[in-house]
Amino acid sequence: MREDIHPTQFKVSQELRIQSLGQRPRLLWFTGLSGSGKSTLANGVEFALHQQGFHTYLLDGDNVRTGLNKDLTFSEQDRVENIRRIGEVSRLMLDAGLIVLSAFISPFISDREIIRELVGEENFLEVFVDCPLEECERRDVKGLYQKARMGLIKDFTGIGSPYEAPTDPFMVIKTAEVKLEHAIESIIQAIQPKIKR
Ligand code: PPS
Repeated sequence: MREDIHPTQFKVSQELRIQSLGQRPRLLWFTGLSGSGKSTLANGVEFALHQQGFHTYLLDGDNVRTGLNKDLTFSEQDRVENIRRIGEVSRLMLDAGLIVLSAFISPFISDREIIRELVGEENFLEVFVDCPLEECERRDVKGLYQKARMGLIKDFTGIGSPYEAPTDPFMVIKTAEVKLEHAIESIIQAIQPKIKR
């Protein structure tokens, strides 16, 4: 079937969109355990970028697992599919010229490497939201760790399902040690030269 698909070259290219928007599209990929602070951090970074006039979009569990990916569970196979689809959506958004922020556990190195290849090495900025399991469990914002310990969620990341930390991320943010405002500021400073035209 695939050989019968012939993509059309549209008149409005990514380059033209980049010119109109006045920014360089990038994918900021936040990965880390549940409760590590991915969404909070990505939310703060997106708001700061927005205030500076950048055109952004934040992909996060709430807007993806309740819609596009609502058919997926937390089995290993479905997590792989979850990240694959998010990667494809991110790629389309980069093509639209946006600065995309993705906040998902994305527990497997191999899946994150597939996204890196899909969007291009220079566009993929991996941010490891590094927080010890004990601290995530102490926070237990959603009460899910407690449920997992009670055996009510069998494949919870960090307990019944693995998390593979990045080996060479663009940035590491230790959310148990750094204040949120400082973490946001350090990310903004690090990405400024990469997103400005
Ligand atoms: S993944 O692994 O990338 O497919 O996960 P993701 O799409 O980021 O969804 C993680 C959020 O779903 C809630 N949740 C679970 N997380 C991990 N394991 C299991 N079994 C599970 N069940 C539900 C959890 O609230 C995660 O939210 P965050 O924002 O990461 O804390």
